[in-house]
Amino acid sequence: MIVLGIESSCDETGLALYDTERGLLGHALHSQVAMHEEYGGVVPELASRDHIRRALPLLEQVLQQSGVALAEVDAIAYTLGPGLAGALLVGSSIACSLGLALDKPVLGVHHLEGHLLSPLLASEPPAFPFIALLVSGGHTQLMRVDGVGQYTLLGETLDDAAGEAFDKSAKLLGLGYPGGPAISRLAEFGDPAAYKLPRPMLHSKDFNFSFSGLKTAVLTVVKNQTNVCEQDKANIARGFVDAIVDVLTAKCVNAIRHSGLKRLVIAGGVGANAQLRASLNAAAAKRKFRVYYPELQFCTDNGAMIAFAGAMRLQINPQAAKKDYSFNVRPRWPLEELRVI
Ligand code: KG4
Ligand code: ZN
Repeated sequence: MIVLGIESSCDETGLALYDTERGLLGHALHSQVAMHEEYGGVVPELASRDHIRRALPLLEQVLQQSGVALAEVDAIAYTLGPGLAGALLVGSSIACSLGLALDKPVLGVHHLEGHLLSPLLASEPPAFPFIALLVSGGHTQLMRVDGVGQYTLLGETLDDAAGEAFDKSAKLLGLGYPGGPAISRLAEFGDPAAYKLPRPMLHSKDFNFSFSGLKTAVLTVVKNQTNVCEQDKANIARGFVDAIVDVLTAKCVNAIRHSGLKRLVIAGGVGANAQLRASLNAAAAKRKFRVYYPELQFCTDNGAMIAFAGAMRLQINPQAAKKDYSFNVRPRWPLEELRVI
């Protein structure tokens, strides 16, 4: 079965073809980062318009790359939510129009389920069950995953998401958008002893997070200086990255210990972070569990994870895709609402 995946929930247009027998056949992506950069963040209306411009050329690209004709596609999976309403509507309408024109069934996919399952696209995928840390621009959640559609939320952020904390702190330091990669690179040159920033909820007995205080601590440090020199910026970046990585690592270790499981999966954009990976790998070596990451190109938003999640859903329930082309979107959609009976 060949599934076409369409992702358009935020500032990346991603298309991909996944074959349940042959694996990922091809994927194409356009990032809007350069377009939004001058505004310091995503401008929703611009995002929607750009998805319209990019989607069909990317579809052509992915078909060519895969050597697959559109008629060979068995089903079309698209991101139904959560995300920006206008951006989601573009992907949904394209998916449903294609479905109608080709007489193929369509299936709305949960964006976070895409992220969550993306490590299964790797050459050595984790087996179920596992603990998953989902760290993206909009979400920070720890979950127990027993199978496709079997997700138990263990804890989540009470305020800012990890990616949001990276982006906001980077902005305070005058770094570009998205700030995650920029602040992470700068931190490499910082002195770890210069700023000891707070580690919110590090010792709380639950699996929840809170990052807005850490961002405020960065703000306070920046405000208290009349002239923040380059080395100082790097030191603050280092203080921030060390703090957030410490909290994320400690909560993952607690969840692993509490569950008795030996597999930890990291998904979402912040999963690309080098310092987080180093810290988790060190904890895993010490405590004898294994960490699985998506390939770097599939950490941030992409079409491959949507095609894959759609294919996994269809393997469980072939009726999940329908020839019903009236579409809507779910900009807010809690992952826990997903259940496979
Ligand atoms: O998963 P994603 O592409 O989009 C959402 O679904 O939100 O995640 C984007 C987030 C942004 O906040 C970005 O700054 C962060 O992931 N990010 C990183 C890195 N690469 C992306 N944060 C820290 N270090 C990175 N290397
Ligand atoms: Zn995402």
